[in-house]
Amino acid sequence: MEIKEVPVTLARRLNTAYFEGRLSPAAEAALAGLETAGADARELADRMFRLMRLARFEATDLSPFTAWLLGFSVPRTVPSAWRGAVPPVTMAGRHRKIDDYLATNPWHRPDTDPVFVDLGCGFPPFTTIETAHRFPGWRVIGVDPAFGRYLVHDAAGNYALFDSEDRLRYYQAGNYDPAPEASHARFHDLLRRLLPLLTESGEAVAEFGRLTRDPLRQYEKGNLGLRPGEIGAFELDGGADVIRCLNVLMYFDQDFRERALRWAARLLRPGGLFLCGSNWIDSASSRYTVYQKESGELVAREFAFSIENVRPIELAPWYALHDDNLENLRNAHAVGTLRADADFRRRFDARLDALLAELGVCPRGADGYLGDSAEGRAPDELARCSALLAERLDSEGFVDDAVAVLRRAGFEAWRNGAGHVAMRPVPPPALGPSLVPLDLNRT
Ligand SMILES: C[S@@+](CC[C@H](N)C(=O)[O-])C[C@H]1O[C@@H](n2cnc3c(N)ncnc32)[C@H](O)[C@@H]1O
Repeated sequence: MEIKEVPVTLARRLNTAYFEGRLSPAAEAALAGLETAGADARELADRMFRLMRLARFEATDLSPFTAWLLGFSVPRTVPSAWRGAVPPVTMAGRHRKIDDYLATNPWHRPDTDPVFVDLGCGFPPFTTIETAHRFPGWRVIGVDPAFGRYLVHDAAGNYALFDSEDRLRYYQAGNYDPAPEASHARFHDLLRRLLPLLTESGEAVAEFGRLTRDPLRQYEKGNLGLRPGEIGAFELDGGADVIRCLNVLMYFDQDFRERALRWAARLLRPGGLFLCGSNWIDSASSRYTVYQKESGELVAREFAFSIENVRPIELAPWYALHDDNLENLRNAHAVGTLRADADFRRRFDARLDALLAELGVCPRGADGYLGDSAEGRAPDELARCSALLAERLDSEGFVDDAVAVLRRAGFEAWRNGAGHVAMRPVPPPALGPSLVPLDLNRT
């Protein structure tokens, strides 16, 4: 009898290398999409598992839902899915907690004509608009290299952004588009049909969609301005008091970050803040560093993260395109410290399991593994559960408890004005090397 060799999947290799093969069969199956994914998605998956080890995350805590995010969503959101570009993906409410943070920061109080720059603000500039409302006394400027020439909406409200050469820069058809190529073709077709209908005012409206030329105009009102520009190529007379650069540096390596910090130090006024890091829907999965300009240089004063990162059901806290991403390393290091405290870990895990059961989200089964999300729940809705969990865990004292554990472990830690666990930044340990050859089985 001929014995055929069964190819070992990437999911199996990751499971074996990082979890001694203990991931549930459902979680491993949900990673199947990685098999044909771009190199950046495969590397991200491998990095995620290495970060999980640093954070003492258990195989039984990786739900099929989280694994599905990795196997399905990641290959569609990484730069290789956007021809190498960083997608301007953003959403309303994403930086609400960062705005809370700024409103309560005790060591930064600009007094005359304060200026806020939202660097790499994305499009539509939802978070910049919200910050301009929240701080009416500030001049708020959104800056991004990907502002487009044409904005196309379909009849369902999904949109796409095209540059002046009619190249599709980005589209948003929900955060989990099942058929990206069909969406590309559909938006190109919409643009082709709408362009001849453009009026002098720069609008075209039809029953099948809507086209706006130079769409930034419609957002610039009152204290809100928008300018094309990027790190290293943007100037502002008089400088800025705060630069918020969220969900941008995670696409770049440490060398780029250092150049960005030196450039930001020149743009900031004395005492000004530079906030960088990442988060997700409703400010869930937060991890960010706050720098302050002192004697002409940026000094790291605070690293903070949201409490549900201690055992997230989201993928976001692990998302970064480079091993040396400081916020991911700091987050995994701090979470690993918390999870090394047996008493804290036991109480946190028990309470989180109870909250997940109450919400019907990935409830733990009799086999000890986290289960799948409830049928029919959209991923965006599940992502909102993470913000809900953060509120509940904070209100029940887990942020204060985490601060106490970090202090006992020798860190300077506190609860900041956004309700996040904050600490004086320390150099985190580097990520161990990859244990999996990522290009095996590729054709
Ligand atoms: C994932 S989006 C984040 C948008 C928004 N800051 C948020 O948090 O929702 C990343 C943005 O970074 C922008 N970007 C890419 N390279 C950049 C650079 N060198 N300088 C500034 N922004 C950049 C992209 O155009 C994109 O809009």
